[in-house]
Amino acid sequence: MTAMEWNPIRSKDYPLYKQIADYMARRIAAGEFPAGSHLPSERTLAKELQVNRSTVVAAYEELYAAGIVEKRKGSGTIVSADIWGMPRKRLPNWRRYVEQGSFLPNLPLIRHIQKESKEADIIDFASGELSPDLFPLEQFRSILAQQTFDCHLGYEDPQGNLALRETIARHVKTDKGIEATPSSILITSGSQQALHLIVQCLLKPGDAVAIEDPSYTYSLPIFQSAGLKTFLLPVGRTGINPDDLTLLHQKHRIRMVFLNPTYQNPTGTAMPLEQRRKILALSAELGIPVIEDDPYTLLSFTGERLPTLKSLDRHGTVLYISSLTKIAASGLRIGWVIGPQPVIERLADAKQQIDFGHSIFPEWIAQRFLASPEFSAHLDRLVGELKQKRDLLVDSLERHLSGIVEFHVPAGGIHLWCKLLKETNDLQLLREAIRHGVVYVPGRVMGTQQGFVRFTFARAEKERIDAGIRRFAEAYRG
Ligand SMILES: Cc1ncc(COP(=O)(O)O)c(C=O)c1O
Repeated sequence: MTAMEWNPIRSKDYPLYKQIADYMARRIAAGEFPAGSHLPSERTLAKELQVNRSTVVAAYEELYAAGIVEKRKGSGTIVSADIWGMPRKRLPNWRRYVEQGSFLPNLPLIRHIQKESKEADIIDFASGELSPDLFPLEQFRSILAQQTFDCHLGYEDPQGNLALRETIARHVKTDKGIEATPSSILITSGSQQALHLIVQCLLKPGDAVAIEDPSYTYSLPIFQSAGLKTFLLPVGRTGINPDDLTLLHQKHRIRMVFLNPTYQNPTGTAMPLEQRRKILALSAELGIPVIEDDPYTLLSFTGERLPTLKSLDRHGTVLYISSLTKIAASGLRIGWVIGPQPVIERLADAKQQIDFGHSIFPEWIAQRFLASPEFSAHLDRLVGELKQKRDLLVDSLERHLSGIVEFHVPAGGIHLWCKLLKETNDLQLLREAIRHGVVYVPGRVMGTQQGFVRFTFARAEKERIDAGIRRFAEAYRG
């Protein structure tokens, strides 16, 4: 309900000022103006509603008399701090609802970074997505222009469109060496939904899970909301140490382990083959399922692709998650899980309850795109561009921060994990950096390590990478 949609009606029995007072009270109750927020100025509201300013003044007086608003000299009309609990008006206490829902919100720092990264002039090393010039826009346009949409428009199979699942089965076989059938695949709204479904359907509150430290930020509230106990596996130069998993299991009876073994978010590390085999052997020996979160394998800059855990999985202990986010477009929201059929059916049943299955339109585009020869041409170009961005970032770090940072050059993916050698306050540095026009993710929001920064190089334009690091260096040097 906005002012644009509502106007008072002239009536003998219901004065304009009263209509406006009730209307604003409804907007306040609906949470549009939380406690402590400012109502529009009298002049602004009068203009919007096309009434005299004196009518709005009278309406605000009415709200004041009812204790709904306060008047503060010089700062206008403010919603009362205790309005949310006011029994007289029987207003729901929205703030309490908002704070007490079982699904946890993002960390305030993450929300702040997200907001800053959208500012026009800021150079964005924070967002984990491709820059617009790397999306396969031309290919999508040509699919939309040349091919006839011929799909069923009713509710889809809860596992997702069959043609897309067939195409994904072929794609993972060709590009990742993974054997899958359409019935072992579930289409999800990105990897994010896959993670959510797995946590909700296969685990229960109190279960112990092992996660990487540091790890992908957006998975943390999902684990916490589900009441899981998370135990940390430190990520070293080559990923996690399998012995740490054994130790954690002995102590806490780990029920599931979440790994991003290739070009890990945020450290950029890639786990060598022998370590992969060890993890798989352990997983089979201890009976712990491994969730392999794999958005980055195809973004290898070395010309060779590391084998996914799933492609080496001889005992069926790996549930594999991937998506088109980092290799095509985040906005498409196409991801998938590959796993044993009973698991996939359980997850599909939950997905059906949540959203009645995926929308056919992104599925259709994704299927045409993945099945077309343009897909591998796009991937080649994308990898070349990302490699150039990585090189520009490395050059800039060496030029502007030599001797005061330390990092390993990632062999693929989109993240570079940078250790700050100079003593700094992480939050103050972020604030300073934003003031200088650059944003990134401080390491501390992704795990226990302090004094690290994640620079993501996919989003910033090539021409601005050097300026971004220069701005960071100014903030860091102080
Ligand atoms: C490791 C990892 N997993 C999952 C995701 C979620 O991606 P999406 O849901 O867009 O596929 C990301 C995105 O940054 C990621 O880095």
